[in-house]
Amino acid sequence: MTAPDILITAAGRGSRLTGVAPMIPKTLMPICTGRSGWPESALARLARQFSDSGAARIWVAVNAHPWFTALPEGGGLRTFRSRPLGEWAAVADCLSVRASDGPLVVVSGDNAFSDADIERFVDALTSDPAGCRVACADVESTSGLTKLELDGGHVVRLHEKPPEGGAGVAKAGLYYFSADALDWAAGWAPRLDRFGEQSMTEMLRALLRNEFELLGHRLSEGFHDIGTPDGLARAIQHLAATSESESFETESFETASRGSRSVAVTSSLRGSEVDHRSLQRKGDPSVNQVAELLASRKILSAVEAAIDAGVLTQIATGPVPTQVLAARLDLDPGPLEALLRVLLWNDLLVRDNGDWRLAPPYDGLLGEHPGKTMLPLLRIESWAHGSHVNGRGIRAALGGEQRPTEIPDDEVGDLAAAMLVGSRSSAPYLARLPELRACRSLADIAGGSGGYALTLTRIHPELSVVVYDRPAMLRHAEKFVAESSSDGRILFVPWNLHTDDVPEHDSALVSHVLHLLPRDQRVELLRRVAAGLPRRGLLLVHDFVYDDPRPGSALAASAVDWLATGAGFALTSDELRAELGEAGFEVDRTTSLPLAGTTLAIARRT
Ligand SMILES: C[S@@+](CC[C@H](N)C(=O)[O-])C[C@H]1O[C@@H](n2cnc3c(N)ncnc32)[C@H](O)[C@@H]1O
Repeated sequence: MTAPDILITAAGRGSRLTGVAPMIPKTLMPICTGRSGWPESALARLARQFSDSGAARIWVAVNAHPWFTALPEGGGLRTFRSRPLGEWAAVADCLSVRASDGPLVVVSGDNAFSDADIERFVDALTSDPAGCRVACADVESTSGLTKLELDGGHVVRLHEKPPEGGAGVAKAGLYYFSADALDWAAGWAPRLDRFGEQSMTEMLRALLRNEFELLGHRLSEGFHDIGTPDGLARAIQHLAATSESESFETESFETASRGSRSVAVTSSLRGSEVDHRSLQRKGDPSVNQVAELLASRKILSAVEAAIDAGVLTQIATGPVPTQVLAARLDLDPGPLEALLRVLLWNDLLVRDNGDWRLAPPYDGLLGEHPGKTMLPLLRIESWAHGSHVNGRGIRAALGGEQRPTEIPDDEVGDLAAAMLVGSRSSAPYLARLPELRACRSLADIAGGSGGYALTLTRIHPELSVVVYDRPAMLRHAEKFVAESSSDGRILFVPWNLHTDDVPEHDSALVSHVLHLLPRDQRVELLRRVAAGLPRRGLLLVHDFVYDDPRPGSALAASAVDWLATGAGFALTSDELRAELGEAGFEVDRTTSLPLAGTTLAIARRT
């Protein structure tokens, strides 16, 4: 799952900083020491923080100031000219320039946050992408800010610059908008506030009136508005006192002394592209990159062992010391303590007064939360690693060996549960496609958990879905669907991917299926799907598509799975188009699903 696009708004006129702005854009003024040791501006800081948290694309809404024009682009960072007409104007301008219609994090370039708060914000929305989020913090005075009224974690009312001031919870200039909310907001004509600007507060109020969920996300370490002289001074003082650069100082110094000073300088200006790991790489490429590769495999082995021995599930039930855990699970306390320390060093656990707890966000991801837990995915990955996703398996595939598409029966339950969780981040995108409104009967080819069928039928009351899959998988899908409030519009048909025809439907979904098969079998399957559709019948193909994946990303790594099975699936979108064309389909468009890291091709039978 990848992070959504980020928009940093930096197009303001700087009217609250008279004297300095507009000569110096406030977001480019140094406010703290950056990781490289060079001063870091609010904009560079935000770009670095979001880049560290895994953002693939960072949009920066800028004005005509020549310093913005000179900012180098690339590495996921893009600037675009926006009207200095308020925060929502920047969002509207961003929606019109970016190609994706996925969710968006919006952050005011005037604000400074701690690294940990940005990380927690991104973790929270990545683990639960539904709904919108408004970051907020407790402040001593809300005057000059937007005060939030919260009820059970939900924002219920917003008071702009309350005259009475007083302590309260204030909006922090950091938001997350789900794709649905953006879709709706794009069609809403925002009211101008008293400064003639398109105000974010007005937009949040409009979303509330239209029953969109706004979750208040409390920042642990507050925020600083650098847009006023006082705020700027406070931010500089506070950030100097809580310098996060300490741990990087030695590294920056070492890197510089190896002659990489220019890289360090670029990093402080660009923020988003060069993080401390790439600095290390520039300094000593062979040693550090290989060490990183080896480390990730070893850490994952420790996580797998902890899952297998029941350690994580036990810890998820409540804080526990090593000795008690060892007794409960009948394990040797010595090696168990070492394992727990490894997990602590790698941020999976925390230790409070000798008791072990899951660290956020793993407390939400590795507990037993049905429909949310990532444990089944980790178990399936662990099985696959032991079975064939390893050096020997890939070597065998290079010699022409192919794995069956059917996994052993005792792994099917975990695969079903993992797919159900996966469907939560992708199915809502599919459901929003306007093309589905005209469809009445959809074939979900190798539909797995039934998660897509559930979401599609929920959003389209006139649509019925038939899930075609192996009987071993359908048993789980039927159970999941029965546990949800389904009204009989989802049917299950035992079916064989390699041989069976697809009965007639007006539309079909092929999600995460093509990657199971080598090219000739993919085209053959797609031809059978085409035979069940009318002319111009809708086909949705949802899968991993490899248009220049980011180095080290989950997407780039996923191709190893299909390599190890012998399917050798590593298609670009042009290659996918060509295969669909060969099977009798014409692709209308492709769109990427940022949270899932996947691509959707919307095609019609020719
Ligand atoms: C990666 S899952 C994708 C499931 C679902 N479409 C999704 O996107 O969540 C692949 C699916 O192919 C099914 N499958 C594998 N071999 C099959 C076969 N021979 N006949 C029918 N289904 C098969 C599996 O049971 C599984 O549900």
